[in-house]
Amino acid sequence: MPIIAPSLLAADFLNLESECRMINESEADWYHLDVMDGQFVPNISFGIPVIEKIRKATNKVCDVHLMILKPEQLTEAFKNAGADILTVHIEACPHLHRNIQQIKSLGMKAGVALNPHTPVGDLTDILHDIDLVCMMSVNPGFGGQKFIPHTLEKTRQLRKMITDRGLNVHIEIDGGVTADNAAEILAAGADVLVAGNTVFSAPDPKAMIARLKAM
Ligand code: DX5
Ligand code: ZN
Repeated sequence: MPIIAPSLLAADFLNLESECRMINESEADWYHLDVMDGQFVPNISFGIPVIEKIRKATNKVCDVHLMILKPEQLTEAFKNAGADILTVHIEACPHLHRNIQQIKSLGMKAGVALNPHTPVGDLTDILHDIDLVCMMSVNPGFGGQKFIPHTLEKTRQLRKMITDRGLNVHIEIDGGVTADNAAEILAAGADVLVAGNTVFSAPDPKAMIARLKAM
């Protein structure tokens, strides 16, 4: 069964407590928390104080997706805020190996995110060091965009790399995931589905989470 990670970016921020309660009561596995800095991506979302509060509202895994430059300056702050998984963008990290070691030395799982144009081959010499690849299936910065179909081909390539090398790395698909394309995404080799608008705009978000989980 896939891991389902609702993206809180699409939640009602005025009612975050009840949104958290909904996720806690649902079959969702992880909270996907999108942090944007207005530099690496052309938008700003939420940051450390909000994640601290969410941490107190749940026992589920907090999967923090950093869309920021210089993540090394805040790695420890995100650990203290309660992140379980910390994902950085390959395009934002000239010293990616050092970033990954820093994240793991603080006791978090380490993820690397790839923008839609970034080849999976760029992961060749880091894949054995990481726990998760976040494959962006939209250009990062905004929720509610359309899934880029080429992501399926990248997912197949990445799954083959992981299998051929006998590794245990999650493939998380982030952006434009719906009940209509989820089965195809999983068949391509992904095992984690991020879903923002598909969950939070659904008439019954818990039922939508259950539907994705059953794929
Ligand atoms: C985009 C974020 C995504 C976003 C997904 O930059 O990384 O996690 O919240 O939202 P949907 O599922 O609505 O495309
Ligand atoms: Zn994300």
